[in-house]
Amino acid sequence: MINTMKSLLALCLFYSAASVSTAETPIKHTSFRPGEIWTDNNGAHINAHGGGILYDKGTYYWYGEHKVEGDAGNYAQVGVHCYSSKDLYNWKDEGIALKVVEGDHSHPIAKGCILERPKVVYNKKTGKYVMWFHLELKGKGYGSAYAGVATATKPTGPFKFLKAGRVNPGKWPLNMDKKDQTAEFTKEMPDYVRIIRRDYPGGQMSRDMTIFVDDNGKAYHIYSSEGNITLHIAELTPDYTGHTGKYVRAFINRYMEAPAICKHKGKYYLIASGCTGWAPNAARSAVAKNIAGPWMELKNPCVGPKAGITFGGQSPFILPVQGKPGKFIFMADIWRPKNAIDGRYLWLPMKWEGDQIILEWKDEWTLDDL
Ligand code: GAL
Repeated sequence: MINTMKSLLALCLFYSAASVSTAETPIKHTSFRPGEIWTDNNGAHINAHGGGILYDKGTYYWYGEHKVEGDAGNYAQVGVHCYSSKDLYNWKDEGIALKVVEGDHSHPIAKGCILERPKVVYNKKTGKYVMWFHLELKGKGYGSAYAGVATATKPTGPFKFLKAGRVNPGKWPLNMDKKDQTAEFTKEMPDYVRIIRRDYPGGQMSRDMTIFVDDNGKAYHIYSSEGNITLHIAELTPDYTGHTGKYVRAFINRYMEAPAICKHKGKYYLIASGCTGWAPNAARSAVAKNIAGPWMELKNPCVGPKAGITFGGQSPFILPVQGKPGKFIFMADIWRPKNAIDGRYLWLPMKWEGDQIILEWKDEWTLDDL
């Protein structure tokens, strides 16, 4: 009898636990809860780190690094994960949009490479979805500093790898002093002259990155370069799969990483981080009338407790909210490098005071708070 009661109890417990979150009864989200587990339509924590969002024909697509457990998750074991949503709170798992290559260790996106910060944009001229990402070849740490590109005919992929490499070989930035380009090369030159000179023949380094498409359809690749000391803003070709050779340098010697850009009331705004690896630091912000600069650096946009460490996060993207002109969401990652899959997302509403972006912590918020 006691055994029968026990079995009945176990059965009840099983069904009540099962009803919390299964494929049949996914949790319906009605708000953002920064830093908490964020479940998808299958009840699994969303796995799209360092990501970016594309809005396409009524649907948002979120692309990000698929992480696995442990520190192995800091390397690309699977690829770029894609989710879709109509309301930004509830995300459907669309699977792996770009898969790493298994069984060929020499492939640029071989399993075990470092593939970070994927961003997808749609090219109207070719009808293709174009994904750019930061790539480090397998087994070389962060020494390659490549940008990679892949394309697809559907937003959910599959994306086909096209190429990867350094950026704009044999091209000087439009805003570099002629004297610095031609002075005799010495090891004693300051880093901001020496590194760009060193990399001129083979192409410039490209690590943390984003892609920004302007209202006129021109796209730009914005990346940490020159050993992370400087950001480059480089124009992409009309099909978005290459560089035109036109680029500028910004924030020389400021060690900006994690760049994210938006256009608000006709001006360009940048949020970035400092350069402390997975550990959070104080966010940076800047404004410009022209995407090619000059950029004026503003203050740390975060205010309140933990503002000095961006509330524990680091920016991968600024999301323009559809149907709400001038409204943007700041997206950040809370990295968990010891167990990468447990990384969290920290989305906050963006506000402006004059030119200054303001980010305030919220435990919970909705789109009505924008
Ligand atoms: C961060 C960067 C991340 C990742 C990490 C590795 O600074 O933003 O994307 O590359 O360093 O330490």
